[in-house]
Amino acid sequence: MLLLLILACLCAGALRVGVSSAEPPPAGDEAAELSIPQSSRPLRQVNPSFLSLTIDANLVTDPRYITFLGSTKLRTLARGLSPGFLRFGGTKEDFLIFDPKKEPTSEENNFLDLLAKQDAANVCGIRSPPSDIIELLQSQWPFQEMLILSEQHRNKHKNTTITRSTIDILYNFAHCADLHLIFGLNALLRKGDSQWDSSNAELILNYTDSQNYSLSWELGNEPNSFKHKSGIYIDGFQLGQDFIRLRQLLNNYSRYKTAKLYGPDVGQPRKRTQKLLRRFLKSGGKVIDSVTWHHYYVNGRTATRDDFLSPDVLDTLITAIQEELQFVDDITPGKEVWLGETSSAYGGGAPHLSNTYLAGFMWLDKLGLSAQLGIDVVMRQVLFGAGSYHLVDASFEPLPDYWLSLLYKKLVGTKVLQVNIAGQDPRKLRVYLHCTNEDHPKYRDGDVTLFALNLYNSTKRLQLPSHFSNKQIDEYILLPHGKDGILSTSVQLNGHVLKMLDDETLPTISEKPLSPGSRLGFPAFSYGFYVIKNAKVRACI
Ligand SMILES: *[C@@H]1O[C@H](CO)[C@@H](O)[C@H](O)[C@H]1NC(C)=O
Ligand SMILES: *[C@@H]1O[C@H](CO)[C@@H](O)[C@H](O)[C@H]1NC(C)=O
Ligand SMILES: *[C@@H]1O[C@H](CO)[C@@H](O)[C@H](O)[C@H]1NC(C)=O
Ligand SMILES: *[C@@H]1O[C@H](CO)[C@@H](O)[C@H](O)[C@H]1NC(C)=O
Ligand SMILES: *[C@@H]1O[C@H](CO)[C@@H](O)[C@H](O)[C@H]1NC(C)=O
Repeated sequence: MLLLLILACLCAGALRVGVSSAEPPPAGDEAAELSIPQSSRPLRQVNPSFLSLTIDANLVTDPRYITFLGSTKLRTLARGLSPGFLRFGGTKEDFLIFDPKKEPTSEENNFLDLLAKQDAANVCGIRSPPSDIIELLQSQWPFQEMLILSEQHRNKHKNTTITRSTIDILYNFAHCADLHLIFGLNALLRKGDSQWDSSNAELILNYTDSQNYSLSWELGNEPNSFKHKSGIYIDGFQLGQDFIRLRQLLNNYSRYKTAKLYGPDVGQPRKRTQKLLRRFLKSGGKVIDSVTWHHYYVNGRTATRDDFLSPDVLDTLITAIQEELQFVDDITPGKEVWLGETSSAYGGGAPHLSNTYLAGFMWLDKLGLSAQLGIDVVMRQVLFGAGSYHLVDASFEPLPDYWLSLLYKKLVGTKVLQVNIAGQDPRKLRVYLHCTNEDHPKYRDGDVTLFALNLYNSTKRLQLPSHFSNKQIDEYILLPHGKDGILSTSVQLNGHVLKMLDDETLPTISEKPLSPGSRLGFPAFSYGFYVIKNAKVRACI
């Protein structure tokens, strides 16, 4: 009798665990049940640099602003997101001309003087350029940013000359942040109306080679709209031939023989773009290492708050990815497909939305879907720069999507698993499962990381499959911080506001341990991660 009583208490207790720390669930609120099909192999495996970053070439519309990349704080933040690629490209890449003889700007020079004073072993130990230089640039940045965005909007682009120091500062930034630089070469330099003129690219290669810089390459940005941007029409077949020419040029340098070449960085798959891509792949597909394309959900000028929370909008990525993969597979089977530039909203992002907690719904869902459906690398536009879709703002303050990216990097591994949900609409309670990042010191082989987005306007609970009922779980819930609610530019992790400790130190990312058998709770409009410890999932061992 006593035994029965104890058992009954234990059961009731077990049922209550997990809701005890939050408010009791409203009547009729049922937990969604998760099921994880048993399998000895992961669904698929993505690149270790799956979450990667971009710097838009428009940052050097006036090359003085490259000096921002000397900021110690920005370097610390970038390093937090390694390993990864850092793509330097975008519309402006096709309007940059390298002049090795031109003198650097005084701002660039100042930073390079600092660099030159370091011995070779310590180039990454250097501190920021004097703060007055950075502060002056920061005070002028709002005007520069307006100029960049209006040039972009009017689609009228001027050529800009870049110097050796522009490349030095960019390379030094990537190198010291442990990111691998991908440099987008200008494809609009043409011999007459036809072939690509590779002589300026050769000057760049001669210079980067002389400096022992190891990097990868692209050629041209969104060639599907070259005509619109510059009046020059380049057909997919010709572009393929231009890539072959670049490959041959790279092969002439022992340093770049094995350097990777990615492309063609086409915009979203629409009819004319598909035609260009098909002709490109047929003509030059064999010389590229991955096929790159770009994706944005919405137009930054018209995007609304509801777009970011809409399952319909988020689901548009599914068809876009499926079409793109099918298409590439038909012509160049087996070739990896990357999102070479991607963010929430095009045109620099949606002001007051793309830089807030709200943006995380699009970002986390994109990471989840892309890995699941077959994309190997996702390059986030932008780490830092003009517009509102940046991860780090103009005062070098990390925004919610920065912290979300940092958590993703730390917790989510490369092996993708399948997970199903029952009892709630899977389009509104979106869940993803990976093996936990093998490099995380606290976790071990066999552990899994679940991440989820709650698009319901009420708390939702998730119930893990019963074979996990005795497992310890670490919770990492991100919520907005402050009076702006979901439109806040500040976030809290498990109730603690995330901020840097100083320019060289990121905060510790701490878990909230839950007792075994807990239900996982997601407040209305929120997202987060759970690590199931000692899960012993076979596909992760
Ligand atoms: C940029 O420079 C190239 C090479 O000199 C030239 O062909 C092109 O017309 C220039 N573009 C613009 C927008 O001035
Ligand atoms: C690049 O360097 C090679 C080898 O030194 C030289 O032959 C070539 O002329 C250089 N290219 C340009 C465009 O200056
Ligand atoms: C490049 O590497 C070579 C061989 O290690 C070295 O002699 C040379 O000084 C390096 N050049 C630069 C600019 O670091
Ligand atoms: C590579 O080098 C060879 C020998 O110097 C030269 O003939 C050829 O034109 C170069 N290829 C390219 C694509 O520049
Ligand atoms: C969520 O529900 C609350 C209370 O019903 C309401 O005030 C709020 O506007 C809703 N939010 C959204 C984004 O629908």
